[in-house]
Amino acid sequence: MNLTLKIWRQKNKNDKGRLETYQVSNISPDSSFLEMLDVLNEQLINEGKEPVAFDHDCREGICGMCSLYINGEAHGPDRGVTTCQLHMRKFKDGDTIYIEPWRSAAFPVIKDLVVDRSAFDRIMAAGGFVSVNTSGNTQDANNIPIPKDDADKAFDAATCIGCGACVATCKNGSAMLFVSAKVSQFALLPQGKVEATRRVHNMVKQMDEEGFGNCSNTGACEVECPKGISLENIARMNREYLKASIISEDEE
Ligand code: SF4
Ligand code: FES
Repeated sequence: MNLTLKIWRQKNKNDKGRLETYQVSNISPDSSFLEMLDVLNEQLINEGKEPVAFDHDCREGICGMCSLYINGEAHGPDRGVTTCQLHMRKFKDGDTIYIEPWRSAAFPVIKDLVVDRSAFDRIMAAGGFVSVNTSGNTQDANNIPIPKDDADKAFDAATCIGCGACVATCKNGSAMLFVSAKVSQFALLPQGKVEATRRVHNMVKQMDEEGFGNCSNTGACEVECPKGISLENIARMNREYLKASIISEDEE
């Protein structure tokens, strides 16, 4: 396949940035999108030019690092896949492909296609954990019976890989799908109930402080999420938040 690539180049967060045009040829339709970018970068290095910076790690859909806006869609035209799982057979020979970084004020561009997603880390640090006493007397988790439906829903929520496609896709730059998945994976299990009030309050507070927008139920996040995280989680987080607010008021 021969392709024209229009790629966002930006030296650093203060640079204005611009789209630059590149040509790549003899790309196998069976190669992944990131492999196609590797070919481009090899070409640029051989020409003595600066390669395109882009995020990646596992290249098998589990780490959440790859994060490209391709032809106006987070993770490109395929559904239920990350950029590293996207194959060039989804494009046609002779295509022009636009490649941009995630779009969100809360994810500032570091360089080219790499954005700073540390806002997600700070939200997790605010409450995305379960405190466990590891004194040696820790109870075996399997001793606590959990209804199958709850276990399945918690597992589904836990499959969120923190890629940020939901934020990049949302016209409000909302992080509600991500945060609600992280709240839900604990809210559904007995182990998560102990810190539930504090968790949802602190995570939502941090989310707001990071500058993410509000959810207006467009549902775009669910469509573009590579892990199929359901909007049901947002409804659950809103219920958890309301419950936590009532409990906090009672305690005051
Ligand atoms: S909810 Fe989906 S799109 Fe958002 S961070 Fe998690 S896996 Fe990525
Ligand atoms: S590189 Fe890990 S999910 Fe794409």
